[in-house]
Order: sequence, then structure tokens, then C-alpha cells
Amino acid sequence: MGWTGCRMARERRRKPVEGADRRRHEKDLRGMQPQSKVKGKVDLAHICLALAGICCVLGFSAYFYNLYVQWWLSRRFITPHLSPRILDSNYSSPTVTPDKFWGSYRPQVYFGMKTRSPMSLVTGLMWMQQTELDVRLRHTCEQSDGLSSYGWLMHDGVNFGVQEIFDFGFSLKTEFVKRTGGQHGGDWSWRITGRAENAEHQVSLISLLFYVATDGQGVLQPHLEERTRLAFLTGSTEELGHFKITFHKPWAGEGKGPKYASFNHLKVVGPGLHQLTDVVKSSLSNHFIYNPPGGKKKRYFAVNTYQPPPGSTPLNENSQVLIHQVTLQLPFQVEVVFESGSFMDRPNQLSGEVLSAALTQHQTSFEDKFNSIFQLRKKGFSTPQEEFAMAALSNMIGGMGYFYGHSIVQSKYNDQPVLYPEGPLFTAVPSRSFFPRGFLWDEGFHQLLVSQWDTAMSQEVIGSWLDLMNVEGWIPREQILDNEARSKVPSEFILQRNENANPPTLFLVLEKLVRGMETASLVQKNELYLRKLLPRLRSWYDWYNTTQAGPLPYTFRWRGRDEDTDMYLNPKTLTSGLDDYPRASHPSSDERHVDLRCWMALASGVMAHVSALLGEPAEEYRRMQRVLSDNALLEEQHWSDQLNSFADYGNHTQSVILEREKIYIPPGQPPHHYPSPRLVRVIRKPPKLQYVGALGYVSLFPFLLQVLQPNSPRLETLFKDMRNEKKLWTPYGLRSLSKSSPLYLKYNTEHDGPYWRGPIWISINYLAVKALHYYSNIEGPFRQEAADLYQQLRSNLITNIYRQYLETGYIWEQYNDSTGKGQGSYPFTGWSALVVLMMAEEY
Ligand SMILES: *[C@@H]1O[C@H](CO)[C@@H](O)[C@H](O)[C@H]1NC(C)=O
Ligand SMILES: *[C@@H]1O[C@H](CO)[C@@H](O)[C@H](O)[C@H]1NC(C)=O
Ligand SMILES: *[C@@H]1O[C@H](CO)[C@@H](O)[C@H](O)[C@H]1NC(C)=O
Ligand SMILES: *[C@@H]1O[C@H](CO)[C@@H](O)[C@H](O)[C@H]1NC(C)=O
Repeated sequence: MGWTGCRMARERRRKPVEGADRRRHEKDLRGMQPQSKVKGKVDLAHICLALAGICCVLGFSAYFYNLYVQWWLSRRFITPHLSPRILDSNYSSPTVTPDKFWGSYRPQVYFGMKTRSPMSLVTGLMWMQQTELDVRLRHTCEQSDGLSSYGWLMHDGVNFGVQEIFDFGFSLKTEFVKRTGGQHGGDWSWRITGRAENAEHQVSLISLLFYVATDGQGVLQPHLEERTRLAFLTGSTEELGHFKITFHKPWAGEGKGPKYASFNHLKVVGPGLHQLTDVVKSSLSNHFIYNPPGGKKKRYFAVNTYQPPPGSTPLNENSQVLIHQVTLQLPFQVEVVFESGSFMDRPNQLSGEVLSAALTQHQTSFEDKFNSIFQLRKKGFSTPQEEFAMAALSNMIGGMGYFYGHSIVQSKYNDQPVLYPEGPLFTAVPSRSFFPRGFLWDEGFHQLLVSQWDTAMSQEVIGSWLDLMNVEGWIPREQILDNEARSKVPSEFILQRNENANPPTLFLVLEKLVRGMETASLVQKNELYLRKLLPRLRSWYDWYNTTQAGPLPYTFRWRGRDEDTDMYLNPKTLTSGLDDYPRASHPSSDERHVDLRCWMALASGVMAHVSALLGEPAEEYRRMQRVLSDNALLEEQHWSDQLNSFADYGNHTQSVILEREKIYIPPGQPPHHYPSPRLVRVIRKPPKLQYVGALGYVSLFPFLLQVLQPNSPRLETLFKDMRNEKKLWTPYGLRSLSKSSPLYLKYNTEHDGPYWRGPIWISINYLAVKALHYYSNIEGPFRQEAADLYQQLRSNLITNIYRQYLETGYIWEQYNDSTGKGQGSYPFTGWSALVVLMMAEEY
């Protein structure tokens, strides 16, 4: 809506007065001057009146012009980038990519599928164990569910996936297989296998609730059998045409006989996808009796009628939900079959033995492909270690989502948040439970692994992200695009501001992608792709180069630091990605950040490379790269002799602490009338401009991004700090902040615990391993040290992540630097899954 008008307005403003209009304009002006000359003598009052009139008109024009400029400025940043989109608007349609139309693109649920299209039909599974006491309904991935493990064991991103979920006392295996055919993305089938954890432990009844829901368009028609069993449903939507979903009767297990079960179903008009769980909860009743032949009768909960709680979201006619509930005892196997109406010549139904055969075949090809890409056997890994690596990769791939909607954004010209243009995003996510949405700087890391598996898929993801760019060259760093996503994010984090950056890690994966493409062999497909990328990459680069420029030439500064310096031990820098990593204690425009400078060196190099490949001007990027990797200049701007490390520079003091504020309560007054005292920051020694003493990941960046020359004596210093157990070294990986640093493991506020102040992060450790690999393969005085460190660090990381996986069932957001234990959110199979690349030694 808004931005079409805006684009026209901008063009109007840019255009000078032209052609005939301009000539007429000049003539009028010329015509006026002689007139006033001829008259000569005019009385004063008239002049005053005329002047007043002119002032008045000018004043008004200026006023309206200002209003217009304000409006223009407030709209500009929600104007999409002007160059053609990288991905055709039909890239995800079933005609262009039929094999990727359907997928497990709902990473936020334990099991569900949708299509890569806006307002997609969604399908999914909820389940519950029938207990007397409470209803433990499982649907969206929640850490509070306390599942001992869940995740994909295999997932190839296209054809199939196998997931295992361990609930209390039983496990569910959720498998899907797709089959292309027809014009709408083809068929798929699901198989859910339930097993008791051990034979003695009797789990009571289990209910599986399969649902199918529309989101804004389409119709669903239930077809019942014996009044209560939803045998199948038919339906149609714009992008799927007609389809049929069949709910097969359960079996006792593969190759075993039928299984007794009770069936219930529900058809409702709901309040929207983000409240599916609530719809089911508000529909449950325990009036139902499970009555197996020759067995014990039992009451159970089942969907009955939907009773929206008072004050809930209004219902939406276009949000239809059909639920098929199967209640039965372990063990069991249940299949659901989706068949596309336009698939005419299907040879057989994808169920039973046909489904088993398809699963086996896909598993074999998955293993073959995995082995040929990663070759872990050759690296000496055992079969269980290989399975762990397969699971890590599969969770990255199986965690990919397709989102559609708009961000909520604000610029300094807006009093109120506004909507960013609506659009799709195809992306991996850091964590299915805790961060099931796109994060700009995580994505560059994710794609390092994804591109190894499926380059075309990575190219789509990169294109999808760059297509979110606005006309300024900005990309919102956290993508919270729809109600489902917003329902999982605290409101203060939803708003995205266009001053704020995030590390441009997509350059990491671009570097990898173009490494192999030399000019001569640049196949046409790649060239076409790179040509589409280039205008957006240029804008993106310019955006960083201008908006995040530092106080001196070739220095850079993260914008968007916390301003409220009294409440934090050290104001956070969320935009840098390293949140609470200590920076200058007093944010100011004097700051320069060494990590951002190194990111810009990387970006300059990749820009030069891509431009040169395409025969486009590369010289300015190359010059920037030379300047930014000039080690002498780097030292001048970021090396502190006193700290003996690379460092940020800014208005800083080391002497800060958090103290309980003192509140004066006059004698005789009841204390509860006064606010409880807060922890506030106390400055013991005033700040001054200086290097920031905070040895850790930030200090390592010139090494991490390979800006240091192989013969730089600083490498030796860095290696010593890295290897020192009182500083960065642990048996589990490099800790984020040195043990010797004053803010090591310090809370930032009363409740805001250390995040990048000690724990081990896999993204940065991956960069460290990669850099060590580089320095150990290039001539230089510290080559041997690099090689030794490489072996030790790589082995420490792999051993610990693997051990934690065996012990806890999960891959974690970070690892404790004193125990190695996984901590933070889980499963975290975003960048922590880069362990696979470390195992394979792919950098
Ligand atoms: C997809 O869109 C592109 C560009 O608009 C067009 O050239 C192409 O023919 C379309 N493909 C299909 C299968 O519709
Ligand atoms: C980056 O900004 C600097 C300073 O404004 C400028 O001199 C340089 O040309 C810019 N680099 C590129 C590649 O545009
Ligand atoms: C550093 O911060 C303090 C406190 O805000 C301020 O008074 C001082 O002027 C700043 N110093 C510089 C050099 O900006
Ligand atoms: C790591 O574990 C130790 C020992 O259990 C604990 O004291 C410390 O707080 C943990 N670190 C973090 C960052 O949670």
C-alpha cells in the first residue's frame, strides 16, 4: 500500500524542473523583473503588503514542504530495494520447484508440514498421554515440556525425514516421505510409530491429534465413518487445487494386525494458526470411554466442542480446522496420506509396504550422500559419531522454515512503529523451541553447513534474505513475520530499527560459494545468480560502510547500544550479535569496534572477488580490503600495548560495580510505601578515552577472520592467550571472555546473567578452528603452533559436543566453560551444528 505512492513521490522530488515547464518557469521570472523596474516608484504600504504576502506564501510552502520531507523520510525506509528481486516471485511455486513445495517448514512444531506459499494449508500433529491428573498436550516445541530428547535423525531437505521424540515413558517416531506428481507439489505420507520405553512400565492411553488447518483461504470437508471416525477429508486451496487426506486405521506395528482405538473428531472455525493449541485445549472433554474388547474401560479426554474462553481472539471464517483424534495403547503405527488431485497417474498409494520401501530407499541415498560429502569414516569417526553428525545436519535442514509476513519497524523519523513490506523468508532457524525464526547473523553460519549439503538451497536462502532489503540497503536483523512467530517473542524484541546492524555473516558463505567459481568456469547459471545478487550486495555493503562508520577513517562502530547506562553493568550491544560482551562502559560516538572492522575487511574482499568474477568494477573494494587488512593500520587503531591485545576503543572505565541503591526512609514511615531498592551502576573512577580491556572473542577477530598476516608477531601473542587456561582455553573449546577479565561471568543486571561473558559458543569456535586450519596450511613462523592448536581445539569441541549430546539428548546453545555442560536453549541446532563441518574438516 504505502510504498508505491512513496516511490512516485521520491521520483518527483528528484526530478529537476524540466523541459517546457522549466522554460515557462524562467519566462515568468524574466517577465516579472522588468515590470517592477519600469514602475520604479511604488508606495511603501504596497511593498510591505506584498512582502508580507510573499513571506506568508513562503512560510506556508516551507511548512508544507517540511511536512512532506518528514513524511518522505518516515516512509523511505519501508521502501523495498529498487533492483530486481534475486528470487523470481514464483521461485517457490509448485511449477518451478515442485519437489520443495511441501516440507517440514514449520520448525516451531514437533511435527507438521506446510507449503512454501503465503496462507498455506498447514498440517500437524499434537499428542497427549491420558492421565487422571492433567492434560499434557504437546504441539509447539517447548522446553517446558521437558522431553528428554527430540529431533531429526535424517532429513534430506527434499524427499523425506525421520524424527524421534522421547516423551515420558514412550517414544514417537515421526516419518514423512514425499512423492512428486501433478501440478501442485505432489503427495506425501506420514507414519507415526509409538513404542513404550520399556515393557514393565505401563504407559496409559496415548492420543494422537492430527490436524489440518486453513490460513485465510481454502475449504475443508470431513468424511466420517461410523459417525465419529474421520476417515478422510477433501479440500481445496488456491495453490494446492483439490486434495484428499486419508487417515488410515492404526496397526499394532509394522507387519502386525489392526489395533483397537477410539476415534474423535472436531471441525471448527478458529481464531488463527497461532492459537491452534488453545483451540484444542478449549475443546477437550473427558466424557469419553475407551472400551477395548476384553480390556478395561477407561475414561479419556478428547476434542468435543470448541468453547472459546471469554475475551479470546475473534473467530475467523477463513481459519478452518479439522482434527482427527486417535486414542490407543502402545505400541502402534498410524499413517496419514495426502494425495494431490492433479496427480493422475500415481502407480499406487504411498502407504504400508510401499511407504516402508520408499523410506528405506531414501535412507540409503541419504547415507550415501552424507558419506560422500562429509567422509567421516576416513576421519576415523565411529558409527555412533557418524549418526550424531547426521542428526546435527538433519536438524539444521529439518529446522528450515518458510515464513510470510511483515516485520514491525521504526526509524528515527517515525513516532510510531510501522509495518515493513510484506514478503516471504526461507531460512534456517537457530532453535526450534526458543528461536524458531530467522536471525540475520546466524544465517551466514547456518548456510556454511547447508551449502555443503545442497548449494541450490543455500542460494535460495541467501536470495530470500537479500530480497528483504530496503532501499537504504538495510535488512532487519530478526525476522518475526507472522502472528505465530510474534506469539513467541517478548514485545520489546519485536521492533526492528533501521540504524541497527548485525554482523554481515552472509559474506562468509558467499566467500565459500565463490571460492570455486573461477571466471573461466563460471557457469552461466551461477553468473546469472551473482549478477542478481550484486546490486543488493553493493547496497548492503554501502549501508554498513556509511551507517556504521567510526570516528576515524576506516574504523567502524556498532550503532544501537543500550543507552540507559545507569541500569547495566556494561551497556549491551545486541546489534554486534555478542549482546553483553563488554565494550566501552560509556557508549559514545568516539568508539571503534574491532570486530566490525574485521567483518568489513571480509566483506570488502568478497565484494572485490564477486565484482571481479563478473567483470564489474572491483578496484574500490580491493582498495578497501587492502586498507582494512593493512596490519600496521589495524595495530594503530586497535592494538593496545598496555593490554597486549587487540581491543575496542572508547570512553571507558574498568571501575564499575552494581550496587543496591539506598533509599532514604524518614523515621516512622512504613517502608512498603517506598519502591524496593534497585541494583544500579556505580562508577568508582571516571571514564576516559582508552582501549577497552576485555580479552575474549572480540580481541580475536583479526585472527578469526584471517585479517592478520601469517607472519604477524601478534599471532603468537593471540595463540598464547588462547592456549592459556587462566584466559581463554578450556578442555571444551574457547571461552568467550577471559577468566582474567573483570567482567568474566558477571551479571549485567540483577537478573540478566552472563551470556557472552564466559560460556563457549560454537559459531566463534568454528571460526577459530577454520582460522587455525588456514594458518597451519600457509607458510609462516607460527605455522606449527597453529597446527597444534588446531588439533587440540577441534578435538576438544567435537568430543564435548558429542558427549553432551549422548548425555542430554540435545545440541545446545552454548557450553559451560568450567564443566563443558550444555546450557542456554535447546535443541540449538543452528550454528552449534557446525560441529559437522569441524568433523569433516570443511572450512
Ligand atoms: C517464473 O517467473 C519467471 C520470471 O518472472 C519467468 O521467466 C518464468 O517463466 C516463470 N516460470 C514459470 C514456470 O512460471
Ligand atoms: C567506504 O567508505 C569510505 C569512507 O566514506 C569511502 O572512502 C570508501 O570509498 C567506501 N568504500 C566503498 C567500497 O565504497
Ligand atoms: C566520557 O563519559 C563521561 C560520562 O558520560 C563524560 O562526562 C565525558 O565527557 C566523556 N568523555 C569523553 C572524552 O567523551
Ligand atoms: C558453569 O558451571 C558452573 C559450575 O556449575 C557455574 O558455577 C557457572 O555459573 C556456570 N556458568 C554459567 C555461565 O552458567
